[in-house]
Amino acid sequence: MRRLSLLLILCISLNAFSQPKRTDAEGHPWWQHAVFYEIYPRSFADSNNDGIGDLRGINSKLDYLHWLGVDAIWISPMFPSPQVDFGYDVSDYENVDPVYGTLADMDQLIGNGKKEKINIILDFVVNHTSDKHPWFIESASSRTNPKADWYIWRDGKNGGPPNNWTSTFGGSAWKLLQPRNQYYYHYFYAGQPDLNWRNPAVEKAMFDVTRWWYKRGVAGFRLDAVDTMFEDPSLKDNPPDDDKKNAYGDQEYNEIYNKKLPEMHTALQRLRKVADEYNAVLIGETWTKNIKELNEYYGPMLNELQLPMNFMFTQINKVSAPEFRKQIAFADSVSGWPVWVLSNHDIRRVYDRYGDDRDSKDKDAIAKMLAALYMTLRGTPIMYYGEEIGMENNDPKRVEDVMDPIGKLGWPKEKGRDGERTPMQWNTSTNAGFSTAKPWNPVGQRYQQYNVAVEQKDPDSILNWYKQVIALRKSNPALLEGKYIPLNEDDDNVLAYLRSYKDQNVLVVLNMSGDQHKVKFDMSSKGVKGKSAKTLAASFKAPATSTLDSISLEPYGAYIAQIE
Ligand code: NOJ
Repeated sequence: MRRLSLLLILCISLNAFSQPKRTDAEGHPWWQHAVFYEIYPRSFADSNNDGIGDLRGINSKLDYLHWLGVDAIWISPMFPSPQVDFGYDVSDYENVDPVYGTLADMDQLIGNGKKEKINIILDFVVNHTSDKHPWFIESASSRTNPKADWYIWRDGKNGGPPNNWTSTFGGSAWKLLQPRNQYYYHYFYAGQPDLNWRNPAVEKAMFDVTRWWYKRGVAGFRLDAVDTMFEDPSLKDNPPDDDKKNAYGDQEYNEIYNKKLPEMHTALQRLRKVADEYNAVLIGETWTKNIKELNEYYGPMLNELQLPMNFMFTQINKVSAPEFRKQIAFADSVSGWPVWVLSNHDIRRVYDRYGDDRDSKDKDAIAKMLAALYMTLRGTPIMYYGEEIGMENNDPKRVEDVMDPIGKLGWPKEKGRDGERTPMQWNTSTNAGFSTAKPWNPVGQRYQQYNVAVEQKDPDSILNWYKQVIALRKSNPALLEGKYIPLNEDDDNVLAYLRSYKDQNVLVVLNMSGDQHKVKFDMSSKGVKGKSAKTLAASFKAPATSTLDSISLEPYGAYIAQIE
């Protein structure tokens, strides 16, 4: 018995040691200076050649991620799931879907991540489970079972659903089910019933899930669909749709009774308390209309989410210095630590959104310029796999090929999200080195030129540029900590700013036009001494030093320099 308790104490303390350190030497929590990287596990690397990526595949690429300078990976859901929404329909939160491997594979990934100094962040689907989750099966079995109130069940009204709420994936958000002869609420697919977060037993069960993973060494969670965690208990009808649609094409602007209810914030603050016990980070899928809403997700005492994602930044959608300048100013003014996201598994890839129909030389330059942007702003960047090699969307060409519920619903106008979820391009071999079997989603068409192996050898590649700016960011206190100071604010073509820390000033100049430009800077009004710029990195051939009177930029060029 004594031996057992000694063993227990040893395990607990080993585990405490295995959590990432609370702060760095200067007192910053680890996630503030980290570069995060989202992995869509179906599409990253396939170790058993069944055409679907898996955890062992991710494990085999940790050395690559370390080489690139990534500090934390957020893995989209890899839990057991019927996969109606590719894992965002979880049927067991405390296991791994056999298609992705086993719990032992996950433990190994966490362990190897520690060796490579890469923290593992899981995707916690908080709003809903799968309709195949045992909790839902029990809840659906009668009106009186112990879990009867774990989901949102209601009687119908006037021969139809309880109210006018619609699902973001189309149609009514209510589905009638026997034997309860009641409707259940699903904001997403019918296979994704919403949990009833007003039930304390649900909250406890969900909080315990996070504890279970923290104890296994997970360093935090990306919280899925937090906006929709709570619903108005009296189920009031939403006002009629005013035709303004959000990214999914749903009735974002009139969803006042089933989105962003105040109770969501207090629940997230309690979830944060649990995270703090384990020094973990919470990233939020937080769709907000303005900075006020975004600030609410940081919490009144910065006691809610450390990293609520700012999706307003993903909606600029054009290479425009004034637009970026405006959005950066908003984002830099948040009450907490800013988060920079350009794309993810729900958003078209940067290469397409910003490259449009330009030629590939310009598209490559834009990809590099935007990389320089989010790696040199004050805050935490979250990359999406493949952005570092210039992967583009490969959208389905025929409706029969569409796999994503959104594409099935919206075809042909909306092709869904399959296009931004194609296999990672590792090399020039069959299927881009992702798998020897036919991949679940076709590989991008340009993989022969745009892949890790080819780009690692090319000093001018997008990949080597990413590696260079990430390394620069990590070794430069001004880039990590410095104040953001916009420069030349009336320039419509060139976005420029300083990152200023103690007596160190780093200048970032991004040409957001397709023409060459010469720019000059007067730093005196900013209280900055120094007349010359010592090049730290440039996406084109730049002299080692320039005077601040004349800095030449190539089309869509990125230039980073130390002011001396
Ligand atoms: C947001 C996820 O990012 C998306 O992929 C998913 O379809 C919905 N939440 C539902 O979980």
